[in-house]
Amino acid sequence: MTLLEGSVGVEDLVLLEPLEQGPLLKNLQLRYEHKEIYTYIGNVLISVNPYQQLPIYGPEFIAKYQDYTFYELEPHIYALANVAYQSLRDRDRDQCILITGESGAGKTEASKLVMSYVAAVCGKGEQVNSVKEQLLQSNPVLEAFGNAKTIRNNNSSRFGKYMDIEFDFKGFPLGGVITNYLLEKSRVVKQLEGERNFHIFYQLLAGAEADLLKALKLERETRCYVYLNRKVSTVDGMDDASNFKAVQSAMAVIGFSEEEIQQVLEVTALVLKLGNVELAGEFQANGISASGICDGRGIQEIEEMMGLNSEELEKALCSRTMKTAKENVVTALNVIQAQYARDALAKNIYSRLFNWIVNRINESIKVGTGEKKKVMGVLDIYGFEILEDNSFEQFVINYCNEKLQQVFIQMTLKEEQEEYEREGIPWTKVDYFDNGVICNLIEHNQRGILAMLDEECLRPGVVNDTTFLAKLNHLFSKHTHYESKVTQNAQRQYDRTMGLSSFRICHYAGKVTYNVNGFIDKNNDLLFRDLSQVMWKARHPLLQSLFPEGDPKQASLKRPPTAGAQFKSSVAILMKNLYSKNPNYIRCIKPNEYQQRGQFSSELVAVQTRYLGLLENVRVRRAGYAYRQGYRPFLERYRLLSRSTWPCWNGGDREGVEKVVGELSLSSEELAFGKTKVFIRSPKAPMTELEFSRCPWSERTRQGDKGVCTTLAGEARLLGPPGPPFHPAALSAAVPPGGAAAPETAAAGHAHTEDLPGLALPLPLPADAEEPDRHLHLVSGQHGTSAPKPQPLALQKKRYGKIKASALLIQAFVRGWKARKNYRKYFRSGAALTLANFIYKSITRKFLLGLKDNLPSTNILDKTWPAAPYKCFHTANQELRQLFYRWKCKKFRDRLSLKQVENLREKLSASELFKDKKASYPQSVPIPFRGDYIGLQGNPKLQKLKGGAEGPVLVADTVKKVNRGNGKTSSRILLLTKRHVILTDTKKSQAKTVIGLDSVAGVSVTSFKDGLFSLHLNEISSVGSKGDFLLVSEHVIELLTKMYRAVLDATQKQLPVTVTEDFSLRFKESSVAVKVIQGPEGGRNGKLSCKKKGSRCLEVTV
Ligand SMILES: Nc1ncnc2c1ncn2[C@@H]1O[C@H](COP(=O)(O)OP(=O)(O)OP(=O)(O)O)[C@@H](O)[C@H]1O
Ligand SMILES: [Mg+2]
Repeated sequence: MTLLEGSVGVEDLVLLEPLEQGPLLKNLQLRYEHKEIYTYIGNVLISVNPYQQLPIYGPEFIAKYQDYTFYELEPHIYALANVAYQSLRDRDRDQCILITGESGAGKTEASKLVMSYVAAVCGKGEQVNSVKEQLLQSNPVLEAFGNAKTIRNNNSSRFGKYMDIEFDFKGFPLGGVITNYLLEKSRVVKQLEGERNFHIFYQLLAGAEADLLKALKLERETRCYVYLNRKVSTVDGMDDASNFKAVQSAMAVIGFSEEEIQQVLEVTALVLKLGNVELAGEFQANGISASGICDGRGIQEIEEMMGLNSEELEKALCSRTMKTAKENVVTALNVIQAQYARDALAKNIYSRLFNWIVNRINESIKVGTGEKKKVMGVLDIYGFEILEDNSFEQFVINYCNEKLQQVFIQMTLKEEQEEYEREGIPWTKVDYFDNGVICNLIEHNQRGILAMLDEECLRPGVVNDTTFLAKLNHLFSKHTHYESKVTQNAQRQYDRTMGLSSFRICHYAGKVTYNVNGFIDKNNDLLFRDLSQVMWKARHPLLQSLFPEGDPKQASLKRPPTAGAQFKSSVAILMKNLYSKNPNYIRCIKPNEYQQRGQFSSELVAVQTRYLGLLENVRVRRAGYAYRQGYRPFLERYRLLSRSTWPCWNGGDREGVEKVVGELSLSSEELAFGKTKVFIRSPKAPMTELEFSRCPWSERTRQGDKGVCTTLAGEARLLGPPGPPFHPAALSAAVPPGGAAAPETAAAGHAHTEDLPGLALPLPLPADAEEPDRHLHLVSGQHGTSAPKPQPLALQKKRYGKIKASALLIQAFVRGWKARKNYRKYFRSGAALTLANFIYKSITRKFLLGLKDNLPSTNILDKTWPAAPYKCFHTANQELRQLFYRWKCKKFRDRLSLKQVENLREKLSASELFKDKKASYPQSVPIPFRGDYIGLQGNPKLQKLKGGAEGPVLVADTVKKVNRGNGKTSSRILLLTKRHVILTDTKKSQAKTVIGLDSVAGVSVTSFKDGLFSLHLNEISSVGSKGDFLLVSEHVIELLTKMYRAVLDATQKQLPVTVTEDFSLRFKESSVAVKVIQGPEGGRNGKLSCKKKGSRCLEVTV
């Protein structure tokens, strides 16, 4: 986008100086003559119709624009489409692309280019491609039925079109919805000289196979049909026959069935045949003129083809039934009225067929309701029209354009205003013309022109176009945007251009005089009920479905909405839709009236620029602050210009920027400091000064480093006068590592500039580079309008070559550096890690899956576990083993009954007390604790021993009591309850000794396999008793375990269980030391012998 690249004129009109109509036109012309048909106004694209195929489209260019950001390459429709699509895909902002311009300006071509661009970049895949195909193929079908050759355009769209293309979250197309506006149906029955009917009629006749024509009862010659202008049947460069084939295949691609295609063609043929129905006046006995069909063959063919009753059709065409309160009155129509009815029917059939086709396409391309969609709307709608004779159609078209202008102004200003608000900068209201007053004049619900027209159409009494005009004159006599003969007369103005039956509206784009003749009829848009009833009776499914109101069951006396009301409400829906989206504008301009390449008519373009509001557009863009830039990038680029900020600046970004711009001696109005950006009002002076000051540094630096600085030096020389003295650090500042940022213009469209990184180099940069050098537009713009200082061509060429080579070199380095930085993670060094990760993951997966199939049994005693296949899994394998074991145990525990749990708890206590301490413990493990070894349950005599409130007996066993005196043993029954140990003689039925568990101070057992144990009692309890007991039990493990647990329950204290062979037994006043010796049996047989050793020692052999 620079002069160095050979840009022509100003590529962005925001940078145009002076901002006036003349230079603007000159700039467009200069560019057009150099085949530069696209120019920006910020993010608005102006497109001038080249009327020739330029080599700037296609896959190569799509690929190019896909990789660059908006301002990096020359202005192009692909750049705009790219920005819209990327914003939709990446930022989730619904988009709309508004394409406006007058007939022949290139709107439809532009919309197709946008669609083809989006289709090319929006993902691939079988299903996606089929959706794309359907969307793209809707164009030839709609063009065949909705386009026609006019004087102004050989392929003029005679309807307005808005298409929503819907995408999924990835930006892949899902489908779409098409809305059509106001088909010019009058063309079906009449065309101006030099124009044609809708393409489909000619395509059908030229391209249909003989069989098809025969089936449709058509002749191949267009001159056979009254509705086809006989003078013009072909269009230069348009092959109707092959287009017909294309339409047929497009319909098939979209999903029309063969029958549907056939029926569509039959209805199309019906329209042609209706035109040939000849009507003639007839004599009636009552003297009133009537009419009838004089060519029986045509009507007969219609009957056969469409299943229409010819008599009924004739009756409906030639008479009219009026419903009164009492009866139906049938009035004969004269030949003019009958012809009018026939033409009205033909127009209605065709326009309804067109609507049906649009709906049918929508049915095929529609997206399921459940899916979340991103939407891109493309609006290809008629531009502002000022014809010699402007009628109802021009009125509504211009109304639509007023509304679009309103959207444009509101959305542009709103965007500006929001930025100022965000940045906390006071907003000065921009002086622009708000066309709300004109919109209101037309659309006000009670007092608008459309409302008046409706009122007039519905009002009883004499109603015609004149009464309508009178009403307007009365209501708007003082309105500043309304004029008519009456209002002019009242103000004593003389105006020859104003007719008696006209009114004039001062639109935003200029004054338009409308002829009211036909307003009422066109607004009513009524088809006689007789005709719709006959159509509904047709035995042709499609034709019948086009006239649902003909069904007597559906007949309602309610009037359908008028054409004006329908248009108004569809415009309202459209506006709502547009307001909800991010707008992108394409303003199309027609360069000449003759569809000729290379001709640029300044007068014609001037008119269009005026009503497209291009100058106003630039002004709005430039209002407020033309340049804005974030503090950080601004400072990075310009800090070398101030002694305060160069070479070292430790302050904040904003303060740094203040220092730099402070040296520019700008007035406070020229500058504003927002929260994150600096704003500069004028597009010219300060930025130019900064850039001019900045570049010569590089120029001087060149002396020291030829290679790198050539570019900058070249720039500097071309850009302006020598600047301040040499500053050695300039080179590094001129090309900072991340690329230098450049000022952003308000005009540049903030939506885009935020993303525009770039290097201060004149050649294109990758999409992810820093912001491009916007200042160069300004400079190039100046050169575009005022010639540069003459220099020898060869020298300039050489210099340019050097600059380009240097730029390429630097660019290659910067790109390489950035690519390496960004893609390092994808490089070879990273590959090993990725591969290793992948392998590791897959062997882990294999290991885990293998383990799953190879798990040991769930028996808790089974402790086997497969070995880890690799050492690295060793720890994980052990943990998994643990995990699995715990899980098995948990499962086991869950299966246990309460009783089993209790038993196991006792076994656990036994283990804690005796494991590895007492030799008889291991044998006791597998033997369950029985508790009752004397048959206590079945022996009431023994039961009595434990007393009443003792609770269950924990152990009932026969033990031997060792006499401390003589070492002899005697049998006793020992009962352990929850509170006591009871000892009794085996023969007596009374308890002999009852020891409270709280009196048990401890027990001693030997480590041998014997059953000897001593029960040590507290001193206090010993009082009254004879002292500690020395006992022998065969179930000593069980007995002591249970005693231990019972003591714990009863006293919350742990009973000391001592494993020892030497202990003492205390008596009332004395004690005996007991020494246990292991005999040859090791205590296994339960026998023991005691030997007294003196009075105080007892030796026990077990
Ligand atoms: N970018 C372009 N490159 C080449 N030719 C173009 C381009 N744009 C338009 N044309 C030519 O101009 C003709 C008219 O363009 P197009 O049909 O798009 O106009 P329009 O604005 O849609 O007009 P209308 O309002 O009548 O439908 C095209 O048929 C084509 O020949
Ligand atoms: Mg068009």
